[in-house]
Amino acid sequence: MLVPAIENRRAYRAISSEALPEGALDEILRAGTLAPSCYNNQPWHLVVAQGQTLQAVHEALSEGNAWARKAPVIVALVTRPCDDCRLDDGRDYAHFDLGLCAMNMMIQATHLGLVAHPIAGFNPKKVRSALGIPKDYDVVSLLVIGQRGDPAHLEEWQKKAETGPRDRKSLDQVVHWNKW
Ligand SMILES: Cc1cc2nc3c(=O)[nH]c(=O)nc-3n(C[C@H](O)[C@H](O)[C@H](O)COP(=O)(O)O)c2cc1C
Repeated sequence: MLVPAIENRRAYRAISSEALPEGALDEILRAGTLAPSCYNNQPWHLVVAQGQTLQAVHEALSEGNAWARKAPVIVALVTRPCDDCRLDDGRDYAHFDLGLCAMNMMIQATHLGLVAHPIAGFNPKKVRSALGIPKDYDVVSLLVIGQRGDPAHLEEWQKKAETGPRDRKSLDQVVHWNKW
């Protein structure tokens, strides 16, 4: 049986503008920082936007992500390659490790009954400027966090995506036993 928070997590877009329960954001951020990282470099920066700061982040959202404007919290997931392992053969681990941090945050949020939805659809220059993020850091994703809300304002395809079956490649397509 899968861990319920893994099975139940979905990229819900119906989010309520209600504040998060007391203490929830701290737990989500703490869960992120417990992720493993290469050499324990912990290359992540989690820039929390809430209240008035959110308005400026909203300006950076792509049109398709208008649903994210309802959320009471958006966390910018930020790193830079030089803060993590960079191997001579070209392997860089900062983005990988930031992804592990993000997944921990999503699992913790789901465990708390909340939505945590990562997005790439935003203008990173605008986010950097809104949140004062230095130029040499990559704004890799925004994590939109909130309580589940009313899907009425969503487009039809978005409503379906909330409740339809999980769309995944079969294990046969992605798992290679002993040989590719
Ligand atoms: C790096 C990344 C970027 C994403 N960007 C967006 C986005 O800009 N807008 C959006 O609505 N969903 C975005 N998603 C959510 C995915 O569409 C979603 O995770 C995928 O369709 C699988 O659905 P599920 O998470 O509900 O299983 C993104 C997810 C990831 C991991």
